Amino acid sequence: TRVAVVFGGRSPEHGISAVSAGSVIGALDPDEYEVVPVGITRAGQWVLTSGDPERLAIQSRQLPEVTAESGVDLVLRADPTGNGLMVLDPAEGPRALADVDVVFPVLHGAYGEDGTIQGMLEMAGIPYVGANVFASAAAMDKEFTKKLCAAEGIPVGPYAVLRNGVTLSEADKERLGLPVFVKPSRAGSSFGVTKVSDWSQLDAAVAAARQIDPKVLVEGAIIGREIECGVLEGEAGGTPEASVLAEVRVVADHEFYDFEAKYLDDSCEYDIPANLPDRVTRQVQEYAVRAFMALDCAGLARADFFVTPELDVYLNEVNTMPGFTPSSMFPRMWAASGLEYPKLVDRLIQTALG
Ligand code: DAL
Ligand code: MG
Repeated sequence: TRVAVVFGGRSPEHGISAVSAGSVIGALDPDEYEVVPVGITRAGQWVLTSGDPERLAIQSRQLPEVTAESGVDLVLRADPTGNGLMVLDPAEGPRALADVDVVFPVLHGAYGEDGTIQGMLEMAGIPYVGANVFASAAAMDKEFTKKLCAAEGIPVGPYAVLRNGVTLSEADKERLGLPVFVKPSRAGSSFGVTKVSDWSQLDAAVAAARQIDPKVLVEGAIIGREIECGVLEGEAGGTPEASVLAEVRVVADHEFYDFEAKYLDDSCEYDIPANLPDRVTRQVQEYAVRAFMALDCAGLARADFFVTPELDVYLNEVNTMPGFTPSSMFPRMWAASGLEYPKLVDRLIQTALG
């Protein structure tokens, strides 16, 4: 099976995507899969590049980077015979991207996790791992994730949406209370997120978030534990399956589970499975599966929750291409659920090939 692993990309999560891809490639059985490593530069150029997991690792706090010089240029163009997308490989000439059996878009954030590449692959008629156009776009946008999931009865915390140019009203300040979290509506890995504990910090926080997305979310802080759940599309048309839960505990020097804490230092401890009463565990798993269905997800997703001291559960967000780095929760939760990393990626690709 020829599988194109696509990574890097135009979003701020470029480097994380490359690290995720390195782990995925390292876990693909070489007897089973021929990997075509396709990098996308920050500028959006596609290159046939190195898929060497060692080069795609975090080294001394430096994230890997796909550059135009790092591989052979691939020029994308629509195939005039209607045969999907072609790549112009300078060495081999034009060939159909459809030569690959399946694409694993290990892309996080905009232009990758948001339905854009999914639409391109639909147009080209190439099977791919993960959510379709709609689910990707809906889960990328924290406003619509909350709206669709709340409509299915999943509790979400209080929030306000600030479309471009709009500022937070006094009534919303009163309703949300302090502290609040200010976030770009469409982003990941905590890029552009600020915890605001004094309203005088709000404008700067909104401006920082708007550097990533003109639409900003202001969320009332839910004081609680950070709990995550992996979901996989059911086998043979069955209902989606939930993994055991993970709890992330930020133990040092960070106001919240931010980018550094996620990937660069050892400030977090993880409990897998999370230490919660069975009833709460089942509740989180049930909400995670319900969120997967509410958004029409396919393949995989990771749903993130807060659990309050009173054991109330709130959905925070859903990721349709969760991190696959060595420190990422999704593969670790599935390993703890009995599905080791190589089996997990194999299942994802087999689901995509349907
Ligand atoms: N957006 C990052 C990659 C995650 O959710 O794991
Ligand atoms: Mg999250």
